[in-house]
Amino acid sequence: MDYRLIATCAFGIEKILSNELKELGYEDLKVENGKVEFDGDEMDIAICNIHLRTAERVLIKLGEFKALSFEELFQGTKAINFGELIPISGKMHVVGKSVKSQLHSVPDCQSIVKKAVVESMKKTYDREIFAETGAVYKIEIALLKDIATITVDTSGAGLHRRGYREHSGAAPLKETLAAALVLISGYDGSRPLIDPFCGSGTILIEAAMIARNIAPNADREFVSESWPSFPKDIYPQVRDGARNQVKSLNTSITGYDNDTYVLSTAKMNAKKAGVFNNIFFKHSDFMDLKYTEKNVTIITNPPYGERLGELETIRMLMEKMGRDKAVHEDFDMYVLSAVEGFEKAFGRKSHKNRKLYNGRILTYLYQYFAEKKKED
Ligand SMILES: C[S@@+](CC[C@H](N)C(=O)[O-])C[C@H]1O[C@@H](n2cnc3c(N)ncnc32)[C@H](O)[C@@H]1O
Repeated sequence: MDYRLIATCAFGIEKILSNELKELGYEDLKVENGKVEFDGDEMDIAICNIHLRTAERVLIKLGEFKALSFEELFQGTKAINFGELIPISGKMHVVGKSVKSQLHSVPDCQSIVKKAVVESMKKTYDREIFAETGAVYKIEIALLKDIATITVDTSGAGLHRRGYREHSGAAPLKETLAAALVLISGYDGSRPLIDPFCGSGTILIEAAMIARNIAPNADREFVSESWPSFPKDIYPQVRDGARNQVKSLNTSITGYDNDTYVLSTAKMNAKKAGVFNNIFFKHSDFMDLKYTEKNVTIITNPPYGERLGELETIRMLMEKMGRDKAVHEDFDMYVLSAVEGFEKAFGRKSHKNRKLYNGRILTYLYQYFAEKKKED
């Protein structure tokens, strides 16, 4: 069947997500805040769930209409033919959100939508009661400036749940954001890569998967796989295709951290992700770290120092980072930081910076590009 699909993402990385979709061959993309819309069928749902690195979820859009009253919300929802997607036994789980809209009570909107979905199902199946014992269909009512959008989730657990990170450090980066940092840097495995504050290894694991063309979600399940109407051979076919595209990697990836426990979790995560042989994890305090390679890309998420008294230490780390860059002008550096006055401590303005949210924390990705050494 042909659908209107929505890939959702964190604010600030819509462009990266739309580039990923273009690389997968999708055209006519509608890029909006936190999402990209496009057309696709069941094969595309499987491809996007398995291959997209920066998307949070893949949704099927069933309807969009103006709703200023509960009656308009009810009628607009009831007009959608849910029975085309949801079988007679389907479990209709409704969730909601409302932003800058007259209908602001989310629980009320959810119960109106549930009633309307059941009314629509009654028309299709000609019955009054639904046992809802079968596969789950998570229906979302999202109100934004009085426009209601009704979607059904195809992913299940969020797409950042790759399945490799059972263990994490104190402040792990979400896998989707780590992948976004790597894609922004343009890292493709042709240069050595270092994360001097690697924690549980998320940036390096995502980078190794990108360089080796390992699909991020080939080894997990998706809720749409359990739908009776979803052709059974599609997900296995897309998984097989993804596994056949894996490449090898010949450049080094190295992660350092001064916490031995967190390094052991990084190793376990890399093992689970199938990239253990591509990454060296080493114990080192950043203040003692000396670089031996040339043309290195650094992508890192140093500590932010939320606790009192830590800020001075953090500043010293940033200063050293700036001194390192001055010595190694051939390095490309991408530093995600929430520290106020980062560039001042680093000692120079970044070539480019980009606002990104790390969960709820406002951060900036400071980008310092490699510069050719001036001729003497
Ligand atoms: C924000 S966390 C990085 C999280 C990582 N991106 C992940 O996904 O797990 C910062 C890391 O820096 C490490 N760290 C703090 N001070 C350090 C220092 N002086 N030298 C090396 N590592 C340090 C911490 O142990 C922590 O794992």
